Amino acid sequence: MRLVTSPAEIQERALEYRARGLTVGLVPTMGWFHEGHLSLMRLAAKKADRVIVSLFVNPIQFGPNEDLDSYPYDLERDRRLAEETGVDILFAPEKQVMYPDGFSSSVTVSGLSSRLCGSSRPGHFDGVTTVVAKLFHLTVPHLAVFGEKDFQQLAVIRKMVDDLDFPVEILGHPIVREESGLAMSSRNTYLKSSEMPAALSLSEGIREAVKCVNGPGAESIDARQVKDLVRAIITAHRECEIDYVEVVDRSSLENCTEITENSLLVLAVKINNRIRLIDNSILKGS
Ligand code: PAJ
Repeated sequence: MRLVTSPAEIQERALEYRARGLTVGLVPTMGWFHEGHLSLMRLAAKKADRVIVSLFVNPIQFGPNEDLDSYPYDLERDRRLAEETGVDILFAPEKQVMYPDGFSSSVTVSGLSSRLCGSSRPGHFDGVTTVVAKLFHLTVPHLAVFGEKDFQQLAVIRKMVDDLDFPVEILGHPIVREESGLAMSSRNTYLKSSEMPAALSLSEGIREAVKCVNGPGAESIDARQVKDLVRAIITAHRECEIDYVEVVDRSSLENCTEITENSLLVLAVKINNRIRLIDNSILKGS
């Protein structure tokens, strides 16, 4: 596996792959790899001839009071994991080369970006779409893989690709969970063991909601009842502060009142005002 840090070099190598008739799969990440990231890389390797993984803690998607400075980072560790997973190139640029002095452009997907995570993290999705657009230009991929854990990010990127005609196929990968049910996340490293029961309340809420809408009497259950059930499970932990608990349509992300096959339960919760966790699940039949 090759480590590349220069934008000019990654573009040259990616174009060279294309000139040789090879398909390129991209997996954008911010590093501190876990099984979720590695599963995305394996899917890319199955679908494309060459896999490029980007590792870049993108400063413009963090708000002023967020965890940019403490975000976990260990290039050697991630380099070893990517290599073991069969990645061809790990692209890990410095901030200064991605955003040199005078950088002043931005990609905005309006509407979808301002709801849910967008309303508690203003500007976050502009940071994501801007860096992903740059990464698409730098790695000219045929396909790119994103996790369904960040369901809104996936929807925003699909919309950007559709609206702006990027010639890239977007693949979603299901959420990878710990045995406990906790959705894997680089931010889980911030959790103390005393905070684990609170963190587990998200997946517990999902489990109970799924049970409820698929069990006896399910026809009479509406979104309000599901949200109340999940809220009660989460707020039983004093460490938890709910950012949102919503039932939305899986494509438009508009709120639902009735539960259908397309209803997605989406959660964002802050643990001890330090760690923001997100999770989601389709409700019917999952
Ligand atoms: P990061 O949080 O590092 O996540 C990189 C990719 O891994 C994203 O597509 C995310 O959805 C996916 N992922 C994370 N945890 C997962 C899990 N438990 N199961 C399945 N997939 C999971 O998301 C970002 O980085 C950034 O916003 C980025 C897209 C790289 C732009 O900077």
